[in-house]
Amino acid sequence: MAINHFLGSLDFSPEKYDVLFSLASRIIDSPSDYTDRCRGKLMATLFYEPSTRTRLSFEAAMLRLGGGVISVASAKSSSVSKGESLGDTIRTVGGYADLIVMRHPKEGAALLAAEYSPVPLINGGDGAREHPTQTLTDLFTIHRFKGRFDGLTVAFCGDLRYGRTVHSLVKALARYSGVKFILISPSELRLPERIVREVNEINPEATLQETTSMEDGLESADVLYMTRIQKERFFNEEDYIRLRDTYILTEDKLRAASEEMIVMHPLPRVTEIDYAIDADPRAVYFEQARFGMFARMALIVHLLSDKEGGDA
Ligand code: NCD
Repeated sequence: MAINHFLGSLDFSPEKYDVLFSLASRIIDSPSDYTDRCRGKLMATLFYEPSTRTRLSFEAAMLRLGGGVISVASAKSSSVSKGESLGDTIRTVGGYADLIVMRHPKEGAALLAAEYSPVPLINGGDGAREHPTQTLTDLFTIHRFKGRFDGLTVAFCGDLRYGRTVHSLVKALARYSGVKFILISPSELRLPERIVREVNEINPEATLQETTSMEDGLESADVLYMTRIQKERFFNEEDYIRLRDTYILTEDKLRAASEEMIVMHPLPRVTEIDYAIDADPRAVYFEQARFGMFARMALIVHLLSDKEGGDA
């Protein structure tokens, strides 16, 4: 039987995402029905890059489902620092746990790890490439607040070059009809050409509008997806310092946006959203982080199901 991995945001069809959203919403409504759902199962989290939300929401999700968690929170504290290969680590951990969640600084590390994994492997972020469980979180948040994906105008703002959450989400959203993307970034941090090509292949009708001006994007957006400039992916500090404060969402700027627009952010935030915005009802990023835990509960239930192709 094929192992159910989750390595990229396109691994699941829109229909499968819908099944997961329904399950996540059922869990929110009746959490006590799920407290034993993963009793006796163990999840390993292997994080070779810093994380707060992804690791802790996965661990909280598994514990709330009645399962257990074993964890490596940094490369330094594991045998990677002794020179162990990723394949050997994954084979070993796959003998202990029923599910592995891994974050790694190298692009493609999750694909490699999945080749060695005897249990479902979830990509918790591989370099600047993909972050599919953030996409699951983001889509679930949009689903909860907007109730639809078709016809939405989604503005992405900040580091579209290195932001893996953007790369995964843009591709997943491109599958819906009438979606319009407004891509707001400095010219150095534009969405990579390969992602633009992919979006056009997925949906030749999808509209992509690139701009360097935040104001351009705000008026017509249904969703504003703010991102952090990804300091750790820059080759030199000077470029980072020059670009870090390019976009700062303030109350003043938000005045141009619709009352119905939602402001999302995968977090962590640095300077790109003024703290005063937190009180605005349009700011949903902390709810988004919380929805991420329920979405991951649904994902775990799905991947650990015995039925072929998973179950929700
Ligand atoms: C994101 C990531 O790790 O890519 N964080 C997250 O998982 N919520 C975004 C970021 O680090 O800027």
